[in-house]
Amino acid sequence: MVNLSADYKARAAELPGMFRDVFTASENEEEGRIVSALAADLLKSTPEDDLLGVLATDRDVLVGCILFSRLHYDQDPRQVFLMSPVAVRTDRQKSGIGQRLIGFGLEQLRLHGVDFVATYGDPAYYGKTGFQPITEAVAQPPMPLNMPHGWLGQSLSGDETPIEGPSRCVSAFNRPDLW
Ligand SMILES: CC(C)(COP(=O)(O)OP(=O)(O)OC[C@H]1O[C@@H](n2cnc3c(N)ncnc32)[C@H](O)[C@@H]1OP(=O)(O)O)[C@@H](O)C(=O)NCCC(=O)NCCS
Repeated sequence: MVNLSADYKARAAELPGMFRDVFTASENEEEGRIVSALAADLLKSTPEDDLLGVLATDRDVLVGCILFSRLHYDQDPRQVFLMSPVAVRTDRQKSGIGQRLIGFGLEQLRLHGVDFVATYGDPAYYGKTGFQPITEAVAQPPMPLNMPHGWLGQSLSGDETPIEGPSRCVSAFNRPDLW
């Protein structure tokens, strides 16, 4: 039975290795290293208020994880978070864990008063959990995007008005090659 938890800190030491394994299998070793290093950096360098995470476990085995980090929009009072990275253990994919984990993560963000969540990925997959393609006129990404069609977002508060002004990501994401 799969359990969902917001206590990502309890398993923090396992998370970079899990992202490495999943992205090595789905892409290649280089991508595995990049996402593993990103997760390690997020966990180490992000101020506590700017990072949230959710885990899926099955009989205490880690089977999924998502990290959420703050996007600062200095000209807008709303709280905005970025959902990335997302991973489900390779041998447990396509059984609904990813969608349940995203739904649980969005609930946790709502509980923390987050107004809007953005992500950068496959519109076909993330559309299943309410994300829609957005343009820079709706929410500016913190860096130029290599794949603008992968810039996605959803309001959690019902306020659908565009987010004002430029954005800043946390330091772990402050690398043009990640965008
Ligand atoms: C992408 C990922 C998180 C999805 O998690 P999952 O548990 O396998 O997905 P779910 O079982 O919740 O969802 C399955 C559904 O999404 C579809 N789906 C899964 N991956 C998809 C993809 N990359 N693109 C489009 N659809 C996808 C399935 O066909 C299925 O559709 P259905 O509900 O209509 O039957 C997982 O496959 C994964 O970790 N992949 C490798 C890492 C990755 O690509 N992460 C995302 C980028 S940050």
